[in-house]
Amino acid sequence: MKPVRPLYTAPLRSEQPESGCLILRDGTTADIRPAEASDAAMMQEFVSRLSPEARRHRFFSETAPSGDFITGLCDSCEPCTQFTLVVTRMWKGAVRIIAAGSYWARNEHTAEVAMAVDDEFHGKGLGTLLLERLALVAIHHGFTKLWAVTHADNSAMREVFRESGFTASEAYEGDDMEVELSLLPTEATVHRAEVRERLSTTASLRPFFYPQSVAVIGASRDPKSIGFRLIDALKTNKFRGALYPVNPKATELAGLPAFPSMHSVPRPVDLALIAVPAETVLSVVDDCASAGVRALLVITSGFAEVGRQGHALQAQLLKHVRQHGMRMIGPNCFGLMNTDPRVRLNATFTSVFPLPGRVAMSSQSGAIGLATLAGSRRFHIGISSFVSIGNKADVSTNDLLQYWEEDPATGVILLYMESFGNPRRFARIARRVSARKPIIAVKAGRSSSGRRAAGSHTAALAASDVAVEALFHQTGVVRARRLDDMLAFAAGFGAQPLPPGRRVGIITNAGGPAILCADACEAGGLSVPQLSTHTADALLAFLPSTAARTNPVDLIASATPEQYARAITTLLAAEEIDALIILYVSVTVADTADIAEGITRGIEHARTAGAKDKPVIIAWMAEGDEHRVFSLPPETIPVFALPETPALVLSNMAAYTEWRQRPIGVVPDFDDLELSAVRTICGAALSQRGNSWLTTEETSSVLSAAQLPLQPGEVVHTADEAVALADKVGWPVALKLASRQIVHKTEVGGVRLNLSTAQSVRDAFESIKTQLAERNQLAAMDGVLVQPMMTGGVEVMVGVTHDPLFGPLIAFGLGGIHVEILGDVQFRITPLTDRDAAEMVRGIKGYRLLSGYRGHPAADIEAIEDVLLRISRLVEEIPEIIELDLNPIFALPPGQGCRIVDARIRLETHA
Ligand code: COA
Repeated sequence: MKPVRPLYTAPLRSEQPESGCLILRDGTTADIRPAEASDAAMMQEFVSRLSPEARRHRFFSETAPSGDFITGLCDSCEPCTQFTLVVTRMWKGAVRIIAAGSYWARNEHTAEVAMAVDDEFHGKGLGTLLLERLALVAIHHGFTKLWAVTHADNSAMREVFRESGFTASEAYEGDDMEVELSLLPTEATVHRAEVRERLSTTASLRPFFYPQSVAVIGASRDPKSIGFRLIDALKTNKFRGALYPVNPKATELAGLPAFPSMHSVPRPVDLALIAVPAETVLSVVDDCASAGVRALLVITSGFAEVGRQGHALQAQLLKHVRQHGMRMIGPNCFGLMNTDPRVRLNATFTSVFPLPGRVAMSSQSGAIGLATLAGSRRFHIGISSFVSIGNKADVSTNDLLQYWEEDPATGVILLYMESFGNPRRFARIARRVSARKPIIAVKAGRSSSGRRAAGSHTAALAASDVAVEALFHQTGVVRARRLDDMLAFAAGFGAQPLPPGRRVGIITNAGGPAILCADACEAGGLSVPQLSTHTADALLAFLPSTAARTNPVDLIASATPEQYARAITTLLAAEEIDALIILYVSVTVADTADIAEGITRGIEHARTAGAKDKPVIIAWMAEGDEHRVFSLPPETIPVFALPETPALVLSNMAAYTEWRQRPIGVVPDFDDLELSAVRTICGAALSQRGNSWLTTEETSSVLSAAQLPLQPGEVVHTADEAVALADKVGWPVALKLASRQIVHKTEVGGVRLNLSTAQSVRDAFESIKTQLAERNQLAAMDGVLVQPMMTGGVEVMVGVTHDPLFGPLIAFGLGGIHVEILGDVQFRITPLTDRDAAEMVRGIKGYRLLSGYRGHPAADIEAIEDVLLRISRLVEEIPEIIELDLNPIFALPPGQGCRIVDARIRLETHA
């Protein structure tokens, strides 16, 4: 078996893992960032504060190090040589360093690491988090190992090394222990980091969902104001904890005693809702911090969504929140709900409280959240919790996914998204969560005008839809195109079992809706199979001869409740059926209640008889009785008004089930990839020319180092050399302009194919030169590439483009013109698993050409997949490769591999 790498989406360099927020094991937070020269005084104070033992462990001496040493420590300008990270927190009235860690290069591959955590902050997982971040920075600067020497009695440090999961080797030297950690990600490092992140994130969010006490700051006396409605919603919906309105101008609000400030609130407050004017929010946050509040929900708008000044205010707000180790939802949000009867928390300014249930929802738009909550009642969807994340300055969709992953009350997760903060982190988390609970997402901003609106609405960064589509596909996220679809999917996924297969039975009392429903089933990849003789005979026993006893089963307009009941029981018991759609068009309003009773009875019987794993969905077209509920506790049957909707829901449920059943895939490791050679070539090209295309020779060297199957060929500079080379590589040959500057060679007459004589090679060479000269572009000619002509095989292409937010995106399609004209391309984000590569190749419409079509030989699919996986690894490892195009690649018959005939690579340094 080939060695594999863990499926891990490493942070992009642009994500700056060295700065941001750390969530500690106790759910509080701290800031992390590179040390600066101006930190020297704070660092000195930190070191002096350490206990003598801690100083001995960190500096091998109990006396504080010299000022020069401290100054040196605070210099992170040359991360290839030395780097220090500091963790800060507002503590005892000032911002202080509470942990610091550094590395120093020992050689090209190994850096020495050392760190210290303030004694007061031991036991909160800070050391491990610090090591994890230092390791990420070290990896980004080319180190593959960390080395540390520590006292053998320093059990805390040894625990940090163990907890990190990095493969470690230990050696003892007297009282000291030397540890070498390999920084290559392993299953253990990835798994432990994920568990750590999930546990700490969940702990930090718990006070939002399960507060014992809530304060509303800005609780206004005006009953129409947001502040008043917040108090009112909490009170009316019977919040189970203590409630404290805070308003300096009121003594009583909504029948509750009011407090002039947070300091006068008599008991500790877990969650503070802030609805004061924007310019007052910062001081209120500071008051909350000194009153010991850990969770803030900022309703107030006027932050990043309103432009530059708002951005600056939001940055300040976040700084205050982080310095105090708190967490914040918002600003500019609509609030939060938890329907758990033990809390009954409606911390929003609507009094509409949803039905309790299994569906959790996060919405980036307050209004959409409100509309969805209203819709959830219409579709009888029970909600577990709801969060309007607003500008998501701190708490993000990714955090909430991790909370809901472990939340026993939540079975389905809905996301309304306008932007991605960190799609690569989303990929990591969503893939894991989807394997346990379905995530249904609406990503708004697909159209360019939609994206503009999103940009101005929630200061959203528009992401290319191709990347979003790929991301959702790879992570098993069910994409809803419209809000209505999201609600329909929530009703299906939330209330019914996942279908064991794609075979659907349809029962109807009218032909037209059944045809539409069957068409929609097939369009969604479901089948409406013929019924077995056994099932048809069972139907024959109670249906009139005029009824259709095939699938769809048409009970005709005279259908009775009893016939519905028996047909349902029969189809749900049928082995050839995985899911059932029941259609009903009312003939007379008077009949609908009886028919509904027959349907309910039929489902009940079938469930009791053992057909528990087959979903049932109803399309109820009953004029005057549109809002009928089919409730068979604990089950609710989703009911829709149109016959196509159940088909759409079931096809998405079936696709998700299949996604979950397939193995997640592995990222193969290629130990023959000569990455250091590629780094050298790219590094030299970048330092000589800056951002640019690689030359033909450099491109060949990079592809050869990655062991990619390049068609042989060399660049020549004269017609004589071209003829000599043609003799060497074999006739007939192709001549291609070699130029870093001219990307589209064909357009300047730079490609000549099928040359089989010396004279034709000479003519082609001269003609390429002449054409360039005529265009005044002769200086752009680096030479001419001579290659033997390829024959046979199917032309395909592999490309890479870089999305600033998503990172590398890999494309696969048929080569040549097909890709541009037909747009028959599959995209995926990296890293690719073997499953991704297999799905890409099979996902294009032209796959039939690759699998052998009408006498054409099949192509070597395995070889194409190998190219895709190698390219994925290459661009993940060498992020400077910003664009890559292998087009065409000739895919030869099975066993004969493929040949890359044309390639170009563009490099860009990262800021
Ligand atoms: N501490 C406690 N209470 C304070 C306070 C403070 N530091 N500062 C002001 N207040 C009180 C005021 O006294 C007032 O109470 P009163 O009406 O009884 O006098 C109340 O808070 C509201 O203050 P006010 O100045 O009247 O603010 P406002 O009503 O104009 O606006 C917001 C407050 C937050 C609602 C408003 O700024 C806002 O952002 N609205 C939009 C919210 C929104 O749409 N969010 C997104 C939803 S998706």
